[in-house]
Amino acid sequence: MIVVVGDLVADIVVLGASALEHATDNPARVALTRGGSAANVAAAAARQHPVRFIGRVGDDTIGRTLVAELEAVGVEARVQCGGRTGAIVVLVDDAGERTMITDRGAAADLDRIDPSWIHGADWLHLPLYGFASERSRTAITDAAAAVSRRGAPVSLDLSSVATLRELGGEQLSAVVGRIRPSVVFANADEAQVARDLGLDPAGADFVVKRGADPVRVTSQGRTAEVPVTRVTDVVDSTGAGDAFAAGYIVSALRGGDPWASAAAGSRHAAAALRVAGAL
Ligand SMILES: Nc1ncnc2c1ncn2[C@@H]1O[C@H](COP(=O)(O)OP(=O)(O)O)[C@@H](O)[C@H]1O
Ligand SMILES: [Mg+2]
Repeated sequence: MIVVVGDLVADIVVLGASALEHATDNPARVALTRGGSAANVAAAAARQHPVRFIGRVGDDTIGRTLVAELEAVGVEARVQCGGRTGAIVVLVDDAGERTMITDRGAAADLDRIDPSWIHGADWLHLPLYGFASERSRTAITDAAAAVSRRGAPVSLDLSSVATLRELGGEQLSAVVGRIRPSVVFANADEAQVARDLGLDPAGADFVVKRGADPVRVTSQGRTAEVPVTRVTDVVDSTGAGDAFAAGYIVSALRGGDPWASAAAGSRHAAAALRVAGAL
């Protein structure tokens, strides 16, 4: 069972938000979807492997709807409930570039995770977003340290340059030191910022996505590039990185080496790029 811990929130995606005119109406296409990196990874992996999602939503209609929606795609959900559900406004401009306005709501207040919820995890995946607030950082770090001590693989997605900077070098190193990830995912910007912050993912396979350029994978002192088939008809990049993580993890669980798993991840990412919304 793959266990993913982190955010399940409402995404309010605004398409065609290129030039906003201040203090008046701006007609656009606005779509309300299930979001949260952790939930996206869980949903993408559930097509191929048993998956459990752990997180926190608000005690409200939207929270219950998001959980039901996640269960409908085959994910087993274990959620704490309280406060109000988080929401992210995603402004997508005409070039497909995304600007996000983030309010993690209840997700930021994820409390101590019941040990029975992580029991039987044969892989634990954690987006860094979950570490942005102290309460959820403590809950996730404690749970991950327990899984790691048991010898099960833990993967960490560095997720966001803003979150990395907010966390800072000291806290980032403390978290990584405790959860001892066996795989760290990053895009090129996140990898650079993490290095600048002094992150040393010693012992972890380091998987750096570089858009349509080859993925750079470092494992046991060896670095090699894994080619990516360039997608030219990108519809929406939302959730592509999450689809990558799902594809990588499922491949690794089936015995794929880090390079084969990165190739599988890229194939999943490509599929996500060709559809609107997270896969
Ligand atoms: N034009 C492209 N062709 C093929 N793959 C792409 C292209 N652009 C991005 N990707 C892939 O999409 C994924 C994006 O991951 P990431 O950079 O973490 O983005 P995010 O987390 O914002 O979805 C990576 O697997 C990357 O290689
Ligand atoms: Mg990413």
